[in-house]
Amino acid sequence: MSSSERAVVRRATVADASVVGVLLYDFNTEFETPTPSAKEFAARFERLLARDDVLVLLAEVTDLPPEGSHAVGFAYLTLRPTPYGDGPLAQLEELYIRPRSRGQGIGTALLTAALAGVTERGAIEMHIDVDEIDLGARRFYERHGFVNIEPGTDHRMLFYLREIR
Ligand SMILES: CC(C)(COP(=O)(O)OP(=O)(O)OC[C@H]1O[C@@H](n2cnc3c(N)ncnc32)[C@H](O)[C@@H]1OP(=O)(O)O)[C@@H](O)C(=O)NCCC(=O)NCCS
Repeated sequence: MSSSERAVVRRATVADASVVGVLLYDFNTEFETPTPSAKEFAARFERLLARDDVLVLLAEVTDLPPEGSHAVGFAYLTLRPTPYGDGPLAQLEELYIRPRSRGQGIGTALLTAALAGVTERGAIEMHIDVDEIDLGARRFYERHGFVNIEPGTDHRMLFYLREIR
């Protein structure tokens, strides 16, 4: 467990599926990305959060009693096997801090905890896909030691997908 000035970071459990679902829904909605509903996400997170190859971290801020605390951000990571090393590759799939809670070190606390969590699981690298135009997020990751791998100046790696269903 780690803390920034205001937030405490902890690993999410199956009991947090709805909270994580709402955060991911709000992330997509804020950035106008087509999204499943928070309820659909929650149902999926109930299964995902039980897996060893999934790590979700929540950043929570303590409220005045008797309110307890509420989540202001999350990180969602997956681990996958690779023959290129003796441990898995970690992918930071999602990292989101609610708008009003940004710029206070909470993203840093989540990313630090995420790196510690996957290191503990033997991961050899952490990968992140970042939008080219998202200069704020790029600066954030670069400050935390991530480098952008560009195969060459005359060609760029493209991302292909095909829907299965
Ligand atoms: C990127 C993000 C996770 C950083 O979390 P954070 O709690 O604001 O980060 P910290 O307070 O630890 O560090 C602040 C840094 O975050 C970056 N940042 C990106 N968007 C920001 C925003 N709207 N407000 C403040 N900082 C932002 C900046 O690099 C900033 O540092 P700077 O002083 O160089 O501008 C958070 O701003 C966020 O959720 N943004 C929207 C979603 C997103 O872009 N996620 C990453 C997708 S790959």
